[in-house]
Amino acid sequence: MQGKVCVVTGASSGVGKAMAIELARRGARVVVCSRSEALGQETLAEVKAVAQARGDREEPILEVANLSSLAEVRGLAERLRRRFEAIHVLMNNAGLYLPNRRQTVDGYDVVFAVNHLAPFLLTHLLRDRLAAAGNARVVATSSVGYRSARLDMNDLMMTKGRWRGLTQYANSKLAIIHFTREAARRFAGDGIRFNCFHPGGTRSRMAQDEPNWIGWMWRNFGFLLRRPEKGAETGVYLATSPEVENVSGEYFTDLKIQEVTPAARDEVLAARMWDVSLELTGLDRPGERSNGRIEFVEEGA
Ligand SMILES: NC(=O)c1ccc[n+]([C@@H]2O[C@H](COP(=O)([O-])OP(=O)(O)OC[C@H]3O[C@@H](n4cnc5c(N)ncnc54)[C@H](OP(=O)(O)O)[C@@H]3O)[C@@H](O)[C@H]2O)c1
Repeated sequence: MQGKVCVVTGASSGVGKAMAIELARRGARVVVCSRSEALGQETLAEVKAVAQARGDREEPILEVANLSSLAEVRGLAERLRRRFEAIHVLMNNAGLYLPNRRQTVDGYDVVFAVNHLAPFLLTHLLRDRLAAAGNARVVATSSVGYRSARLDMNDLMMTKGRWRGLTQYANSKLAIIHFTREAARRFAGDGIRFNCFHPGGTRSRMAQDEPNWIGWMWRNFGFLLRRPEKGAETGVYLATSPEVENVSGEYFTDLKIQEVTPAARDEVLAARMWDVSLELTGLDRPGERSNGRIEFVEEGA
């Protein structure tokens, strides 16, 4: 992985932080993406220490962006495009579970926006930089929770019925599997490989502060969960291993391809999700500048 540019979102804690550190240990030039400047600086310091111990000349860098905002996702993409001609690995890892509904600045459901729309948009905006790498890999952190999804394509923000945190989390994780499978097919000509994985129940900050039974379980039984380094293993494998260099569009757990449910294999649903995601992210309306949908302008254009 020497010198390869690896962008890791959600690198400020848990699985993402462990992946960032391990990728640096293998020689990658890591871009630590964090919502919080302070937490991002902490991860950056750890990643830098690993890179310096290896004697790597290229410094890791920090990018701060709140991925619930489409404008901030676009800003992040723009900065990455300015800095790098080629991006070898994109780890779409940032994600969250919420006990109560919250809305983004764009008027979307926060969980759906961060867990699905942000990686969908970021990947599209970086597509040519990934293609320029020759054999780039895009890895998404999904979750086995996708199995309890109840997707209503006419109500992706769950505004009509009762909003349920676990269901919306599951919906977003099913959506990212659809994205992985569709992108593997649609972007195959660019040589980009797309895979996603479930990290296993992992000790992290995810539900730690939630004032509900999930938070209680997390705080009291978190010791039963995996260490973040273990949770990161499959993601790092998908980003680095020659064993999977020609594998694309798959869902992994513990380094193995898993068969997905009929809902996740549903190609009609995946194609519909793709089209709706293009609309929701504004990618279908080049040039529009309202509601956070600021069209990316190519440098020098
Ligand atoms: N832990 C598990 O058991 C488990 C199981 C299945 C799947 N996953 C998935 O694994 C991924 C990593 O989660 P984790 O367990 O490592 O939890 P975590 O410790 O809470 O890490 C989540 C990361 O996502 C970032 N993030 C959340 N909202 C964001 C936003 N609006 N903008 C930018 N970044 C944002 C967080 O940033 P902040 O530090 O600023 O909050 C944090 O860095 C997630 O996609 C999660 O759904 C986890």
